[in-house]
Amino acid sequence: MKALEGIRILDFTHVQSGPTCTQLLGWFGADVIKVERPGVGDATRKQLVDVEGADSLYFTMLNHNKRSLTLNTKHESGKAVLERLIRICDVMVENFAPGALDRMGFSWERVQEINPRMIMASVKGFGPGPYEDCKVYENVAQCAGGAASTTGFLDGPPLVTGAQIGDSGTGLHLCLGIVAALYQRERSGRGQRVLAPMQDGVLNLCRVKLRDQQRLEHGPLKEYSQYGEGIPFGDATPRAGNDSGGGQPGRILKCRGWEDDPDSYTYFITQAAVWESICDVIGRPEWKTDPDYATPPARLPRLNEVFGAIEQWTMTKTKFEVMDICNPLNIPVGPILSMKELSVEPSLRESGTVVEVDHPERGKYLTVGCPIKMSDSPVDVVRSPLLGEHTDEILREVLGYSDEEIVSIRDAGAI
Ligand code: COA
Repeated sequence: MKALEGIRILDFTHVQSGPTCTQLLGWFGADVIKVERPGVGDATRKQLVDVEGADSLYFTMLNHNKRSLTLNTKHESGKAVLERLIRICDVMVENFAPGALDRMGFSWERVQEINPRMIMASVKGFGPGPYEDCKVYENVAQCAGGAASTTGFLDGPPLVTGAQIGDSGTGLHLCLGIVAALYQRERSGRGQRVLAPMQDGVLNLCRVKLRDQQRLEHGPLKEYSQYGEGIPFGDATPRAGNDSGGGQPGRILKCRGWEDDPDSYTYFITQAAVWESICDVIGRPEWKTDPDYATPPARLPRLNEVFGAIEQWTMTKTKFEVMDICNPLNIPVGPILSMKELSVEPSLRESGTVVEVDHPERGKYLTVGCPIKMSDSPVDVVRSPLLGEHTDEILREVLGYSDEEIVSIRDAGAI
């Protein structure tokens, strides 16, 4: 028994944001039917190809636990199949460019007519407003949602982050909306429209930066390094390098070997509660009582000096030694881990967060499994489907078409 067993998803998603959401629903136990254009499929199948002739990792890593149905939904026979699918599915998830579904003849109003219990969930780049008709990809969302303007160093340009907060982040938001809508439907008996705009999702994840925007009106942001450096603030939340976004100052500091290893760094947080331990560890016991260093407000104008001294110490240790020494003292630190290190980390393999999957075209590959662990709904990661792998099975077993009808739909060129 899995959490969403019995729930059927009409997965009309492509690229990353929507597929992230439907993959999670699949991991929670829903039957996810991915509808793809015949002969073409999700564009990512053939993007960033590393093994000639095989579905790309971009596609496989976002489309586990789904079945693939090819269907030309602009063809009359294809539309008839889609209508039947809408009738029997619980949730329809899509992330087409604005207006594409309407042009196809399946507006929200029409979908409700066909199935009033349907939850229709969409990712779009922007919500209602001046940009609602725009096509949007990850980095556009990071820029329009406030992440880029607040990421990077003060003297450099805005930066996008490697974490796909626009695509995968919005997929997560949408998934939460869908599960809540399913719960509400239990009581109301009705479906509803769920919209997760990427700009809104990114801004939600940048909540603390809007917090700082308002704090700026009341004076400088004293926990930002630029305060101690005497650099005046402008009128918008600035880029803060690796400063911590919270009330406990932190930085990324060099560790032993940093000259040759780009990831030989640690994040180090000078949490107030463990300041005395930090002073002892780095060999500055006098800072425990010196009024210039003993309290958090006293340290704020001196963060460069404080972190400089800590870094002198971390540079004598590897990032793992820093962890081993600081953890027992409750000093919050974390090594900068590379993708290479994460891919072989035994605990992530054991927890099912990094999973090896076998694929008929490409052989074995690694993927990120479900990051949400539920005690009563275990996740088995099942390889992504080949294009149209389940077309006949779905038409026959889910939609009840006879073999003759399937042949006639195929002859019409709709599947
Ligand atoms: N059968 C027939 N036609 C199909 C089809 C099917 N099974 N599946 C899709 N199509 C059609 C669509 O109807 C659309 O046709 P139209 O433009 O003539 O109406 C066409 O394929 C292309 O769809 P579109 O969504 O515009 O794809 P795109 O490659 O041009 O744009 C995005 C890609 C991601 C920019 C765009 O989909 C988008 O902005 N999505 C919303 C935001 C989003 O999720 N972005 C992040 C993606 S990770």
